[in-house]
Amino acid sequence: MDYSQKISERQWNLPDKGELESRREATYTDDIIQKDHIQRKLLEHLDGIETVFDGGAGSGRFSILLAKRGCRVTHFDISQPMIDKARETAEREGVLDRMTFVKGALEDLSAYPDKAFDLVMSFDAPISYTWPNQEKVIGELVRIARKRIMLSVSSRLGSLPYLANPVQKNQFILDEKADDPFVRWCVDHREQMIDGFRFSRQAAERLYADGLMGGDAEIAEYEKGGTPWCITYTFLPDELEGILKKYGVKNIALSGPGAYGRTLPREILVKIMNDPEQKADFLDFCYRYDSSPYVCGMGKDNLFAAGEI
Ligand SMILES: C[S@@+](CC[C@H](N)C(=O)[O-])C[C@H]1O[C@@H](n2cnc3c(N)ncnc32)[C@H](O)[C@@H]1O
Repeated sequence: MDYSQKISERQWNLPDKGELESRREATYTDDIIQKDHIQRKLLEHLDGIETVFDGGAGSGRFSILLAKRGCRVTHFDISQPMIDKARETAEREGVLDRMTFVKGALEDLSAYPDKAFDLVMSFDAPISYTWPNQEKVIGELVRIARKRIMLSVSSRLGSLPYLANPVQKNQFILDEKADDPFVRWCVDHREQMIDGFRFSRQAAERLYADGLMGGDAEIAEYEKGGTPWCITYTFLPDELEGILKKYGVKNIALSGPGAYGRTLPREILVKIMNDPEQKADFLDFCYRYDSSPYVCGMGKDNLFAAGEI
């Protein structure tokens, strides 16, 4: 088994993962925008979709949404805490009978025959955590899809600005007084992170060239029994499009959820999100802007792709 799979398995099986992930949209504005974007893409393309495979489905943000729309969904994930959280929500939402929960790794989809599902989807970067197997994993996801594929992976152009901004997540905190542990950490360490910051052109050039966030340091931490963040492979737009084309996907559309919102200061984002009317208009406009292929690389965290088989 590759290190990235082992590291990902340990990271995502931390007991509080399901709970933390399920609170994201209540805590961060970038997560509200990203979820809204993916949800709209899904609901716009549901015609003829009865069966769905969600690879790295997490706490069920999208698998449960589609089960509620009447689809039969296979919710597949490497993490038991995420599956437990999703099952609990599915039960509350009354859709357990339309969902199958499977604990497994995207690196092995051999249990599924060709064209097993009408729609295959994998959102918010599970594919990026399968490095160095990311291309093979995309090929396997395409293989088991019958009609449509929708993915979002870590974006290289979108991640590069993080190397010049150690407080990037502060911009997206909804309530700076929230008792969420990561919010508290971001707020308490803001000055320290800025004081200690020094731009490394070398680090930026390296990420630009090889697309990798993490590597030897994470492997060493894992070997010492620690729980490092996943080694993450970030994609360039033409690279992702090229891989999908190579596996025969047609009518590929790329987008960059969060490209518009990331240009705004925190105070403005909070103001908009706290006013339902402005929020609805803003999310409509974000969707329109972020769906332009010209900004797809500058989405916040993710590069989104949809295509037909
Ligand atoms: C950021 S969460 C996204 C969850 C969900 N797709 C969503 O958008 O809400 C990433 C998910 O990928 C899962 N994951 C990470 N590596 C994986 C792998 N190799 N195989 C399957 N799932 C994986 C994690 O357990 C986690 O639930």
